[in-house]
Amino acid sequence: MKMICTLFLFSLLFSSTYALDFCVGDVKGPESPAGYLCKPSAKVTVDDFVFTGLGIAGNTSNIIKAAVTPAFSAQFPGLNGLGISIGRLDIAVGGVIPFHTHPSASEVLLVLQGKICAGFVSSANTVYLQTLTKGDVMIFPQGLLHFQLNGGGTPAIAYVSFSDPSPGLQILDFALFANDLSSALVEATTFLDDAQVKKLKSVLGGTG
Ligand SMILES: *[C@@H]1O[C@H](CO)[C@@H](O)[C@H](O)[C@H]1NC(C)=O
Repeated sequence: MKMICTLFLFSLLFSSTYALDFCVGDVKGPESPAGYLCKPSAKVTVDDFVFTGLGIAGNTSNIIKAAVTPAFSAQFPGLNGLGISIGRLDIAVGGVIPFHTHPSASEVLLVLQGKICAGFVSSANTVYLQTLTKGDVMIFPQGLLHFQLNGGGTPAIAYVSFSDPSPGLQILDFALFANDLSSALVEATTFLDDAQVKKLKSVLGGTG
Protein backbone atom coordinates (compact mmCIF):
# COMPACT_ATOMS: atom_id res chain seq x y z
CA MET A 1 0.00 0.00 0.00
CA LYS A 2 2.76 2.35 1.02
CA MET A 3 4.62 1.48 -2.15
CA ILE A 4 1.56 2.24 -4.30
CA CYS A 5 1.05 5.55 -2.56
CA THR A 6 4.66 6.52 -3.12
CA LEU A 7 4.39 5.59 -6.79
CA PHE A 8 1.17 7.57 -7.10
CA LEU A 9 2.74 10.61 -5.47
CA PHE A 10 5.79 10.26 -7.67
CA SER A 11 3.72 10.15 -10.87
CA LEU A 12 1.64 13.08 -9.65
CA LEU A 13 4.79 15.08 -9.03
CA PHE A 14 6.12 14.15 -12.42
CA SER A 15 3.00 15.02 -14.36
CA SER A 16 2.66 18.36 -12.59
CA THR A 17 6.30 19.15 -13.32
CA TYR A 18 5.60 18.66 -17.01
CA ALA A 19 2.40 20.66 -16.82
CA LEU A 20 4.35 23.63 -15.47
CA ASP A 21 6.66 23.80 -18.47
CA PHE A 22 3.96 25.03 -20.82
CA CYS A 23 0.24 25.04 -21.52
CA VAL A 24 -0.17 24.70 -25.26
CA GLY A 25 -3.64 26.04 -25.96
CA ASP A 26 -6.53 23.81 -26.91
CA VAL A 27 -7.63 26.40 -29.48
CA LYS A 28 -10.77 24.44 -30.44
CA GLY A 29 -12.12 25.15 -26.97
CA PRO A 30 -13.22 28.50 -25.52
CA GLU A 31 -10.79 31.33 -24.83
CA SER A 32 -10.98 33.17 -21.50
CA PRO A 33 -9.04 36.21 -20.24
CA ALA A 34 -6.60 33.65 -18.80
CA GLY A 35 -6.20 32.03 -22.23
CA TYR A 36 -7.12 28.57 -23.47
CA LEU A 37 -7.23 25.32 -21.52
CA CYS A 38 -4.11 23.20 -21.97
CA LYS A 39 -3.88 20.58 -24.68
CA PRO A 40 -2.86 17.22 -23.13
CA SER A 41 0.96 17.05 -22.93
CA ALA A 42 0.98 13.75 -24.82
CA LYS A 43 -0.54 15.51 -27.83
CA VAL A 44 1.93 18.41 -27.88
CA THR A 45 4.42 18.40 -30.76
CA VAL A 46 7.14 20.75 -31.93
CA ASP A 47 4.66 22.21 -34.42
CA ASP A 48 2.83 23.80 -31.49
CA PHE A 49 5.98 25.86 -30.83
CA VAL A 50 6.74 26.84 -34.42
CA PHE A 51 4.83 29.35 -36.55
CA THR A 52 5.54 29.55 -40.25
CA GLY A 53 4.43 32.41 -42.44
CA LEU A 54 5.76 35.70 -41.10
CA GLY A 55 8.16 35.75 -44.05
CA ILE A 56 5.21 36.22 -46.38
CA ALA A 57 3.77 39.68 -47.13
CA GLY A 58 0.19 40.25 -46.03
CA ASN A 59 -2.40 41.32 -48.61
CA THR A 60 -2.57 45.12 -48.59
CA SER A 61 -5.31 45.41 -51.27
CA ASN A 62 -7.82 46.89 -48.86
CA ILE A 63 -9.18 50.20 -47.66
CA ILE A 64 -6.23 50.86 -45.30
CA LYS A 65 -3.59 49.54 -47.74
CA ALA A 66 -2.08 47.58 -44.89
CA ALA A 67 -2.16 44.10 -43.41
CA VAL A 68 -1.52 42.56 -40.02
CA THR A 69 -0.48 38.92 -39.95
CA PRO A 70 -1.00 37.75 -36.37
CA ALA A 71 0.89 34.95 -34.68
CA PHE A 72 -1.24 35.14 -31.54
CA SER A 73 -2.33 32.17 -29.42
CA ALA A 74 -5.34 31.49 -31.70
CA GLN A 75 -2.95 30.92 -34.62
CA PHE A 76 0.06 29.80 -32.57
CA PRO A 77 -1.16 27.64 -29.66
CA GLY A 78 2.29 27.22 -28.05
CA LEU A 79 2.14 30.88 -26.93
CA ASN A 80 -0.80 30.19 -24.64
CA GLY A 81 0.06 31.17 -21.06
CA LEU A 82 3.51 32.52 -21.92
CA GLY A 83 2.69 36.24 -21.94
CA ILE A 84 4.10 36.93 -25.42
CA SER A 85 3.10 36.99 -29.09
CA ILE A 86 4.30 38.31 -32.43
CA GLY A 87 2.99 39.47 -35.78
CA ARG A 88 3.94 41.11 -39.03
CA LEU A 89 2.82 44.46 -40.44
CA ASP A 90 2.84 45.25 -44.13
CA ILE A 91 2.00 48.84 -45.02
CA ALA A 92 1.86 49.70 -48.71
CA VAL A 93 2.69 53.18 -49.98
CA GLY A 94 -0.08 55.45 -48.70
CA GLY A 95 -1.24 52.80 -46.23
CA VAL A 96 -2.06 53.13 -42.55
CA ILE A 97 -2.82 51.02 -39.51
CA PRO A 98 -5.46 53.42 -38.15
CA PHE A 99 -5.70 54.51 -34.51
CA HIS A 100 -6.19 51.39 -32.40
CA THR A 101 -5.45 49.86 -29.02
CA HIS A 102 -4.47 46.43 -27.75
CA PRO A 103 -6.45 46.24 -24.50
CA SER A 104 -4.25 43.57 -22.94
CA ALA A 105 -0.74 44.17 -24.24
CA SER A 106 2.13 46.56 -24.71
CA GLU A 107 3.72 46.41 -28.17
CA VAL A 108 7.28 46.50 -29.48
CA LEU A 109 7.61 47.38 -33.18
CA LEU A 110 10.80 46.69 -35.18
CA VAL A 111 11.05 48.17 -38.67
CA LEU A 112 12.53 45.80 -41.23
CA GLN A 113 12.02 47.80 -44.39
CA GLY A 114 10.80 51.23 -45.45
CA LYS A 115 9.79 54.24 -43.41
CA ILE A 116 7.04 54.13 -40.80
CA CYS A 117 5.58 57.16 -39.07
CA ALA A 118 4.26 55.91 -35.73
CA GLY A 119 2.73 57.54 -32.71
CA PHE A 120 0.73 57.03 -29.58
CA VAL A 121 -1.24 59.30 -27.28
CA SER A 122 -0.92 59.03 -23.51
CA SER A 123 -3.85 59.37 -21.11
CA ALA A 124 -2.58 62.90 -20.47
CA ASN A 125 -3.17 63.43 -24.24
CA THR A 126 0.51 63.94 -24.96
CA VAL A 127 1.50 62.77 -28.44
CA TYR A 128 4.65 60.68 -28.87
CA LEU A 129 5.46 60.62 -32.57
CA GLN A 130 8.46 59.41 -34.56
CA THR A 131 9.48 58.43 -38.06
CA LEU A 132 11.20 55.06 -37.98
CA THR A 133 13.46 53.38 -40.50
CA LYS A 134 15.11 49.97 -40.81
CA GLY A 135 16.36 48.72 -37.44
CA ASP A 136 14.41 51.25 -35.38
CA VAL A 137 12.25 50.00 -32.54
CA MET A 138 9.36 51.80 -30.87
CA ILE A 139 7.17 50.72 -27.97
CA PHE A 140 3.47 51.39 -27.47
CA PRO A 141 2.38 51.09 -23.84
CA GLN A 142 -0.56 48.83 -23.04
CA GLY A 143 -4.02 50.13 -23.83
CA LEU A 144 -2.96 53.44 -25.38
CA LEU A 145 -4.27 54.55 -28.77
CA HIS A 146 -1.59 54.38 -31.46
CA PHE A 147 -1.14 54.24 -35.22
CA GLN A 148 1.45 53.45 -37.86
CA LEU A 149 1.51 54.78 -41.39
CA ASN A 150 3.82 54.43 -44.32
CA GLY A 151 5.94 57.58 -44.33
CA GLY A 152 7.92 56.78 -47.47
CA GLY A 153 7.67 55.87 -51.11
CA THR A 154 8.26 52.11 -50.79
CA PRO A 155 6.33 49.33 -49.04
CA ALA A 156 7.12 49.11 -45.32
CA ILE A 157 7.50 45.98 -43.23
CA ALA A 158 7.67 45.68 -39.46
CA TYR A 159 7.53 42.93 -36.89
CA VAL A 160 5.46 43.61 -33.81
CA SER A 161 5.59 41.67 -30.59
CA PHE A 162 3.19 41.87 -27.67
CA SER A 163 3.23 41.25 -23.94
CA ASP A 164 0.24 38.93 -24.18
CA PRO A 165 -0.50 35.82 -26.26
CA SER A 166 -3.82 37.40 -27.24
CA PRO A 167 -3.26 41.18 -27.26
CA GLY A 168 -6.69 42.10 -28.60
CA LEU A 169 -7.28 44.79 -31.20
CA GLN A 170 -9.80 47.61 -31.16
CA ILE A 171 -9.70 50.02 -34.09
CA LEU A 172 -11.06 53.44 -33.17
CA ASP A 173 -12.77 54.27 -36.48
CA PHE A 174 -14.35 50.83 -36.70
CA ALA A 175 -15.63 51.14 -33.11
CA LEU A 176 -17.20 54.50 -34.00
CA PHE A 177 -18.42 53.97 -37.55
CA ALA A 178 -18.49 50.26 -38.49
CA ASN A 179 -21.42 49.13 -36.34
CA ASP A 180 -25.09 49.95 -35.73
CA LEU A 181 -24.64 52.59 -33.01
CA SER A 182 -27.04 55.31 -34.18
CA SER A 183 -25.57 58.32 -35.97
CA ALA A 184 -27.32 60.56 -33.42
CA LEU A 185 -25.43 58.89 -30.56
CA VAL A 186 -22.13 58.90 -32.46
CA GLU A 187 -22.61 62.62 -33.09
CA ALA A 188 -23.61 63.34 -29.49
CA THR A 189 -20.64 61.43 -28.07
CA THR A 190 -17.95 62.61 -30.51
CA PHE A 191 -19.09 66.17 -31.42
CA LEU A 192 -18.70 65.24 -35.11
CA ASP A 193 -21.29 66.56 -37.53
CA ASP A 194 -23.98 64.44 -39.16
CA ALA A 195 -22.52 64.52 -42.68
CA GLN A 196 -19.10 63.32 -41.49
CA VAL A 197 -20.59 60.51 -39.40
CA LYS A 198 -22.87 59.33 -42.21
CA LYS A 199 -19.98 59.43 -44.69
CA LEU A 200 -17.71 57.33 -42.46
CA LYS A 201 -20.50 54.87 -41.63
CA SER A 202 -21.05 54.39 -45.32
CA VAL A 203 -17.33 53.95 -46.10
CA LEU A 204 -16.75 51.54 -43.19
CA GLY A 205 -19.96 49.55 -43.48
CA GLY A 206 -21.83 50.88 -40.46
CA THR A 207 -25.60 51.38 -40.26
CA GLY A 208 -27.95 53.66 -38.30
C1 LIG B 1 -5.80 40.42 -51.98
O1 LIG B 1 -7.07 40.85 -51.56
C2 LIG B 1 -7.90 41.29 -52.64
C3 LIG B 1 -9.15 41.90 -52.03
O2 LIG B 1 -9.74 41.04 -51.09
C4 LIG B 1 -8.17 40.11 -53.57
O3 LIG B 1 -8.98 40.54 -54.63
C5 LIG B 1 -6.85 39.57 -54.07
O4 LIG B 1 -7.07 38.42 -54.83
C6 LIG B 1 -5.92 39.24 -52.92
N1 LIG B 1 -4.61 38.91 -53.46
C7 LIG B 1 -3.95 37.81 -53.11
C8 LIG B 1 -2.60 37.64 -53.72
O5 LIG B 1 -4.41 36.99 -52.35
